[in-house]
Amino acid sequence: MINDTFLKACRGEKTGYTPVWVMRQAGRYLPEYQKVRGQVSFLELCKTPELCVEVTLQPITRFGMDAAILFSDILVLMEAMGAPLEFSEGVGPVFPAPIRSSKDLQSLGIPDPEQDLRYVMDTIRLLVQELKVPLIGFAGAPFTCLTYLVEGGSSKVFWETKKMMYTAPTLFHAIMEKITTATILYLQAQIRAGVHAIQLFDSWAGILAPCDYEQFVFPYVQQIFSSLKKEDLPTIYFATTRSGADVIGLDCRINIGDAIKRVGHKAVQGNLDPFALLLPEEALKTRIARLLEAARDAHGHIFNLGHGIHQYTPPKQLKLAVDYVHELSAK
Ligand code: CP3
Repeated sequence: MINDTFLKACRGEKTGYTPVWVMRQAGRYLPEYQKVRGQVSFLELCKTPELCVEVTLQPITRFGMDAAILFSDILVLMEAMGAPLEFSEGVGPVFPAPIRSSKDLQSLGIPDPEQDLRYVMDTIRLLVQELKVPLIGFAGAPFTCLTYLVEGGSSKVFWETKKMMYTAPTLFHAIMEKITTATILYLQAQIRAGVHAIQLFDSWAGILAPCDYEQFVFPYVQQIFSSLKKEDLPTIYFATTRSGADVIGLDCRINIGDAIKRVGHKAVQGNLDPFALLLPEEALKTRIARLLEAARDAHGHIFNLGHGIHQYTPPKQLKLAVDYVHELSAK
């Protein structure tokens, strides 16, 4: 039997305490992760199931998290679709051949997850045998993935993405459609392999005007969530807007109490500012107490950060936060 507190909160059921996990919980802020990364590159790590299992378990062991998230990256699906991918030290992801024309798009295919992303499926199958808490599978949402493919990597301005959206909308939609098809197959394969919940990361959805989000992004997100409806497992959407998911992931720019009033009968996940982990102990506790209080009327609350944890965060600060959420919410 696994500890199902996290799954209950996702479904809006009563729990004995507020479950916790944090985005990027396995990562460079952990010395035990650094040790593994000292031996292999990031992509090699992603493609070695035994090592992915090891780093997925690190934060569970150290902090007693209530959910594990599969160790992988949203961009490995783009690589499996046929876009060469590199992670360069200090720069982040790079696609040396960006997708900017319909000819470029033809070079992308729809991968068979069991073949082309076998290492992910093997990681999941190994993890579910070991874990005592639920495993979250994930994918990037089509728009967030598109920005990396079209920009050729990370961006601050999103010039190429927005230029395509406004001047070549047909091409933009065609890319979104292909990524959506690949993502649905990929997530269905993760579910068959054994994940207990799914999170879709739409980290960059917030750069768009609401009308453009409605027209160019939302239909694809909705298509993904409706294709997973029959799977009967919780789905989480991390972005700044609405969706068909069961749980809404919140970033730290919104007050969680206000968000709960807006989302109505849905569970929420979030949303401590990752930098608040740098506060002195008492101030951090006050901040957490305020957040839990503001989320009191939620129809299910999963404590998380508003973004991924920063690489220079002292692990002992996260330990303090996780323990305090557990302690205070159990009262
Ligand atoms: O612990 C977890 O959350 C699970 C693993 C995970 C990673 N990336 C590992 C990772 C997950 C869920 C992601 C999601 C991801 N990847 C997103 C969406 C969420 C977000 O943060 O916005 C995005 C946009 C990516 C793409 C990506 N991968 C970028 C932009 C970078 C470079 C930024 C950085 O922090 O270096 C990565 C690399 C990456 N993905 C690392 C990790 C642990 C660092 C790699 C290293 O060890 O050097």
